[in-house]
Amino acid sequence: TKHIEKAIEDLKQGKLIIVVDDDNREAEGDLVGLASLATAETVNFMTKHARGLICAPISEAIADHFGLTEMIEENTDPYRTAFTISVDHKETSTGISAFDRAKTIKELANLSNNEQAFHKPGHIFPLIAKEGGVLERRGHTEAAIDLAKLANEPQATYICEILNDDGTMARRPQLEALAAEWKMPIISIEELVTYLTANQELT
Ligand code: 5RP
Ligand code: CA
Ligand code: ZN
Repeated sequence: TKHIEKAIEDLKQGKLIIVVDDDNREAEGDLVGLASLATAETVNFMTKHARGLICAPISEAIADHFGLTEMIEENTDPYRTAFTISVDHKETSTGISAFDRAKTIKELANLSNNEQAFHKPGHIFPLIAKEGGVLERRGHTEAAIDLAKLANEPQATYICEILNDDGTMARRPQLEALAAEWKMPIISIEELVTYLTANQELT
């Protein structure tokens, strides 16, 4: 419990945390942050040290608000990861700099934007979370949105898989070492499921 709560505290301060999924699923660690608090620094950290694909988990309500639907009708990804068409906020130039990606991510949390605020395609990939969160689907997409709900922040987040220096996926032992090096909380989806089951009134 303390563990999850510390992670939520860090997220509320705009910091990144590591979320690991099940060993029999992807067995990967993603950096996770709240979209409303994204900065060029945190996005640059993701590109420099995590080096996966930067995606933006959002709630169904936010996806609907921006007219974002699944990228493809028949999703054949092994885990049905719910990618939408990629986006760039209109006030970006190349869309790919850490500044531009932070801007796009941040604006996905801002409901005063309308559908026209984003160019499609772009350089950030929104992912649509299942309404039931990790209790419905044990993905990083749902974990990120459940954490945003627990933090009482807009239900838009950004994530990036962590790779080892040699390009292979970072697994548990390496992720634990990186969390220590980066002074970052590391939580598992399993822990989040346990926490939510024990505190169901929270979401
Ligand atoms: C996007 C991905 C990652 O696995 C990401 O963690 C989101 O997927 P999921 O919700 O299935 O864990 O494929 O780069
Ligand atoms: Ca995946
Ligand atoms: Zn994942």
